[in-house]
Amino acid sequence: MKKTSLPFLLLAVLALTARAQQLTAFRPGAVLPDNHGTHLNAHGAGALYDKGRYYLFGEHKIAGPTGNSAQVGVHCYSSKDLYNWTDEGIALAVAPAGSGSEIEQGCVLERPKVVFNKKTGQYVMWFHLELKGQGYKAARTAVAVASHATGPYQYVRSYRPDAGQWPQSFRPEWQQPQPGEQALTWWTPAWRQAVAQGLFVRRDFAPGQMARDMTIFVDDDGKAYHVSASEENLTLHLAELTDDYQGFTGKWRTIAPAGHNEAPALCKRGGKYYLLTSGCTGWAPNAARSFVASSVWGPWQPLGNPAVGPDADSTFHSQSTYLLPVAGKKDAFIFMADRWAPKNPIAGGYIWLPLTFEGEQPRLRWADRWDLRVFDQPRPKAPVNQ
Ligand code: GAL
Repeated sequence: MKKTSLPFLLLAVLALTARAQQLTAFRPGAVLPDNHGTHLNAHGAGALYDKGRYYLFGEHKIAGPTGNSAQVGVHCYSSKDLYNWTDEGIALAVAPAGSGSEIEQGCVLERPKVVFNKKTGQYVMWFHLELKGQGYKAARTAVAVASHATGPYQYVRSYRPDAGQWPQSFRPEWQQPQPGEQALTWWTPAWRQAVAQGLFVRRDFAPGQMARDMTIFVDDDGKAYHVSASEENLTLHLAELTDDYQGFTGKWRTIAPAGHNEAPALCKRGGKYYLLTSGCTGWAPNAARSFVASSVWGPWQPLGNPAVGPDADSTFHSQSTYLLPVAGKKDAFIFMADRWAPKNPIAGGYIWLPLTFEGEQPRLRWADRWDLRVFDQPRPKAPVNQ
């Protein structure tokens, strides 16, 4: 019989030990290993709970600055307990360079979010798309579909949403340009008012509204909404999706005009809608913001920075990407955020923290280590550092 070499045996033992070591807690900011021990490659992620499993979808980044554009596609992982993740491979692959596809290698494909459509039985993935070689000018949102959660997803199309549609609560007189509005200086009170009264909505009325950082939210009644940073990232737009979740109905509204919000993440708790966002400082973190509303159609009331404690002013060096409802636990949401590393994007880190509430005020507190028991009753005010 052939002798097995010692180094091979050692490696096998190490691999088995690694697999046997099941994680039982979250460690925000630490390496998040998949079943091969490799740091998850799912940036700007969103998550879906489907038939007893969670699926995480995010931007697959590569090393070096080239990794800031899409070289591979959207990576998927699955988990039963949210702590231990299995690599499910590339759910949506970029098209070959030079193919002329809107999602060809080298495009910018960010913040993928997947939802399941009960009517069609399809998994629908939305993401922010910038066309190759155009920087962030195209400002499009795009959709892909699959019949299995893990894919493969087929690219459908991209949109500049709501072309030819005025938003809800938009006064008829705002449909016409106002005298002198083009000469207004940015960030002055007069300019802010002009933005709130449709300066950019009018500009993009015919071609469709800009759409950059985005999320998708499905309400209890099955209606889905697309929320995106629009109007040069000045104003968020919330737009209703069609019944198949693959297009826009044309019903939409603005949120926080000229408020300069991006990285939207939305959840519903006790009949109220909560929106978390960041300011607009590119890859650099800033203080998060929060909003509450009794209807997705507003009005949305600002509630300030939900983060408290040391590093709250940089949201613990992170930027929001998703609020994940924990299955089987009431009002339990995980705040998912990115620590971007634009010089070496594959090294970007993840912050997952429990979102808690003090009355209507959403709260984020740092924890070096925490687990899902934090959501059990009686709910402690803050996760306990261990
Ligand atoms: C961030 C945004 C990221 C990415 C980046 C590009 O503000 O949240 O998703 O678009 O800008 O600079």
